[in-house]
Amino acid sequence: MGGLIPESFIEELLARADIVEVIERRVPMKRAGREYQACCPFHDEKTPSFTVSPQKQFYHCFGCGAHGSAIGFLMNYEGLEFVDAVEDLARHAGLEVPREASQKPRPSAGLYELMESAAAYYQGELKQSQAAIDYLKQRGLSGEVSREFGIGFAPAGWDKLLKRLGSDEKRVSLLQRAGMLSQGKSGTYDKFRHRIMFPIHDRRGRVIAFGGRALDDDGPKYLNSPETELFHKGRELYGLYLARKSQAKLDRIIVVEGYMDVVALAQFGFRNCVATLGTATNSEQAELLFRAADEVIFCFDGDRAGRKAAWRALEATLPRLREGRQAKFLFLPEGEDPDTMVRSKGAETFSALLDEAQPLSGFLFDHFTAEVDMSSIDGRARLVELARPQVDQIPPGVFHDMMFSRLEALAQHRLDDSRGKPPLPGGTAPIGRKPAQKRTPMRIALAHLVQNPKLSSEAGDAGVLSGCDLPGVEIYRELVDFCAKRPNMTTAQLLELWREHPAYSHLGTLATWQLPGEEKQLAQEFRDAVTGLELQWTEARISRMPKIVDLGPEERATLLQLQQHRQTLIEALQGEKS
Ligand code: CTP
Ligand code: MN
Repeated sequence: MGGLIPESFIEELLARADIVEVIERRVPMKRAGREYQACCPFHDEKTPSFTVSPQKQFYHCFGCGAHGSAIGFLMNYEGLEFVDAVEDLARHAGLEVPREASQKPRPSAGLYELMESAAAYYQGELKQSQAAIDYLKQRGLSGEVSREFGIGFAPAGWDKLLKRLGSDEKRVSLLQRAGMLSQGKSGTYDKFRHRIMFPIHDRRGRVIAFGGRALDDDGPKYLNSPETELFHKGRELYGLYLARKSQAKLDRIIVVEGYMDVVALAQFGFRNCVATLGTATNSEQAELLFRAADEVIFCFDGDRAGRKAAWRALEATLPRLREGRQAKFLFLPEGEDPDTMVRSKGAETFSALLDEAQPLSGFLFDHFTAEVDMSSIDGRARLVELARPQVDQIPPGVFHDMMFSRLEALAQHRLDDSRGKPPLPGGTAPIGRKPAQKRTPMRIALAHLVQNPKLSSEAGDAGVLSGCDLPGVEIYRELVDFCAKRPNMTTAQLLELWREHPAYSHLGTLATWQLPGEEKQLAQEFRDAVTGLELQWTEARISRMPKIVDLGPEERATLLQLQQHRQTLIEALQGEKS
């Protein structure tokens, strides 16, 4: 449940914040009967397949399969974490997010304020320092872009920031928690001294860390904030906040290696660039990138280090590739980085290079075919051995299948595809169309409950399924109980309260199923599904009985009873149909 926010608050929040309003503020919609429609913000389309149901407080795109509550929408659309999405919604609804007492407090607001003050202080210092201004000029940065990125200057000296912001013990301890101080033998002193300062923002635009570049060759070229309560470098991307702010939905996002690259590219009109913070791209960052744009271009140096970084990025990206998502790679000539490249060759040339970036598939197969002798059987077998695990990382879908076929073609051999099966329920809620699931009685019953918790009152006597071990029956029981306690819940509320449940994503899919519109019909279909379950269970019990010749008199009676019951159930179902 996001840890610290009480469930009751999530329920209340979703009752107060209307999903139609939340989405309308970002995506213009049209009314269509009881629902609203729009062109899907999560994939490219010309005719609207994105629908929002005020009743269920739930959105769903028939085209790409995206779906969820208002919270889920904000996470998807704004690239927010669960807790941040909740806070955003709450702010708009005029609610305060309560916190359950817990061992791990959230970072205090004081920390954010402190980082903001530090950024303001550094920006002020930049205006005072001719040396720093000259350095930025010599690097070709315009005043405008420097201001936009909040670039500042930490002056030389040991305690400038400490004196400025550490007026009492409490503030000093905040500075420490924020990672702004270093600890030496003779005491505490400023971590960043005589450096150009790049503030690092979180996805909501709050300053959470800094990167500092030396003005000369004295000491390490870059110094970054350590991991703190606010800052986990593996979860952030430098420039992401500004990139997302520049446009609602970016067509593409470019990943580069350095702070200077992001800023230089922005100055040349590429407002869609981010940098990893001195680490290899990880899979969490890959997901963030794809939430921001469908096309991600990794732009690295052409040297060995750059190629290695690109390969790591490729590995992080594979599990995140779904329909509509594309990754590409652009390698710059040795000795160049995006900063130097765009300055020497200009924006147009750089843009052309981006357009010619190599698709992930090419990079992956080139990488492996270069390593083996493709003219020999042994070499091609080795290729399969090397590439197969990577291809298997790609989630089931068209792209996976195409990569698989490509591998077969290169190997000149048919391979057994163990993947390509629909994903198991309980995985992460994927964006991208999955093969339609078969409508079994169990799934139909669950779909009705998720879409209409009131129907739990029609579930009948739970005893008829006693001992039942059909797949899904535990979830069914749990859901019936849950709905019975909260019959007036919307689909969105129900799902958010099940967010941490293993069945969450499965139920999310079932929430998108098309069900009859009429209430009476709905109830009937649900009851039929429950009868269908009972029938399946009865049949299972019959089939599990020993052969009739081996039965004692009592067992024969049981069998007969089961057979009669089966007949009754079949007639009940047929009676409904006629
Ligand atoms: N980096 C770092 N620590 C270092 C060197 C680099 O954290 N000692 C990170 C920084 O995020 C830096 C990125 O790696 O922006 C790329 O490093 P590099 O290519 O060396 O620097 P540039 O961004 O090209 O910086 P500049 O152009 O100012 O030399
Ligand atoms: Mn550089």
